[in-house]
Amino acid sequence: MDLFDQKIERAGTHSVKWDMLKTVFGHEDLLPMWVADMDFKPPQAILNALDKRLKQPPYGYTFVPDSTGKAVASWLDRRHGWSIKPSWLLYSIGVVPSISVIIRALSEAGQQVLTMTPVYTPFFQMVELNDRKLETTLLKEIDGRYEIDWADFEEKLKETSIFLLCSPHNPSGRVWTEEELNKMSLLCREHDVIIISDEIHSDLIYRHAKHVPTALAGDLHEHIITLVAPSKTFNLAGLQASAIIASDQEILEKIKAEQTRLGFFTLNTFGIAAMEAAYTEGEEWLESLITYLEGNVSVVRDALKDIPGVYLIEPDSTYLLWIDYRETNKTDEEVQNVLLKKAKLALEPGEKYGEGGQGFVRMNIGCSREVVREGVKRLKHAFSNQ
Ligand SMILES: Cc1ncc(COP(=O)(O)O)c(C=O)c1O
Repeated sequence: MDLFDQKIERAGTHSVKWDMLKTVFGHEDLLPMWVADMDFKPPQAILNALDKRLKQPPYGYTFVPDSTGKAVASWLDRRHGWSIKPSWLLYSIGVVPSISVIIRALSEAGQQVLTMTPVYTPFFQMVELNDRKLETTLLKEIDGRYEIDWADFEEKLKETSIFLLCSPHNPSGRVWTEEELNKMSLLCREHDVIIISDEIHSDLIYRHAKHVPTALAGDLHEHIITLVAPSKTFNLAGLQASAIIASDQEILEKIKAEQTRLGFFTLNTFGIAAMEAAYTEGEEWLESLITYLEGNVSVVRDALKDIPGVYLIEPDSTYLLWIDYRETNKTDEEVQNVLLKKAKLALEPGEKYGEGGQGFVRMNIGCSREVVREGVKRLKHAFSNQ
C-alpha cells in the first residue's frame, strides 16, 4: 500500500476542512475536498523532529536559529537553483500575515495594489482590510490555459504601488514561465512597482513544469519580495511557520519595523523545528507525494471526460484542481445546491476567487486515491440528470 493511501482520521481534531463543514457549507455530511491542506501525515523526519522537541519541555520563548535559515537557503538552492543570503530572510507566522504586513510597511492607505483574478481570496481581503485600493487584471482562459492580458496589466501598473502575484497560481495551478516572470518584473520596475511574489505552492510542481522564483527570473530583484513556506508542501499549515525574502535591505528593514510594531517577534517552537526538518530532510517524501498527486490528477482527468461540458484546467502545480463547468450553462447557485444537497461534496465555489471565477469549482485532491475516486463519482452524480 502506498504511504499516501493510508486513511488518517482528521474529524474531531478541530480541522477546518473536516470539522467546519456545517459552519461553512451548512451541511455536516459532506466529503470535504475544499480548504487547502492535505489529508496526509507529514514526512517521518518532521514527526521525529517534533517528537524530539516535545520531549524537551518547557516550551518557552524560542528564537529562530541560524540553522533554520541555512535550511531554507539550502532548500531554495537545491530545489529552485536560487541562492539567497541569510541577511535577506525574515520569518512570519504565515504567508497571508506577511502579505498584510508588507502592504502596511511599503504603501500608504489609499494607494493601489494590483492582482490578477481569479485568485486566492485573501489577496483581496488583505488589500481592502488595510484600506488600500484594490485593482485587478483579469487572466484570460485560452484553450484551458490562463494567460496574462499584458496591455491591461501594464496600463494598470501606472497607478499601482504594489503588485501581488500568486506564483504558482492558485486556483488554476498555472506555473508562470521564466519569460513571463521576467516581463512582469521589468514592467513593474519600469513603473516603480514592488512585487510581492507568493510562492507558497512552488514546491508542488508536476514533472512537466518548472517553477522559477520571480526574483531569479527578474534581471534585477531589489523590488521583489518572495514569500515561501513549508506549510503546503509538507502539510504543516497549523504550525504557522513561513519566510519572507527580500534582497533590498531598506525594504527588509521596513518590513521588520512593521512586524515589530504589530508585535510579531518570532515563530512558535514547533513551527521552527518542523520547518528546519522539512527543508533538510523532506525531499524524498516530496518526490513521492508529487508522483501520487500526478496519479490523482489522472483520476480526475479521466472522470471528467464522462461529464459533458465540464473540463479540467490542466494544472502545472498544486493539489488544487480548477474545474470549468461554464458550458453546462448551470448557475453557480444551482451547482453549489446540487453539490451540497444531492452529491454531498464540499468544493470551493469559483466565485470566491473574484472576477473570472464564476462557472468554476476548485477541488482539493490532497487526499487518498480512494477519496479522489469517491469525489469524482459524486461530481458526476451532481452533473447527472438523475
Ligand atoms: C496562494 C496562497 N497563499 C497563502 C496561503 C495561506 O498561507 P498561510 O497559511 O501561510 O497564511 C494559501 C493557502 O491556501 C495560498 O493558497
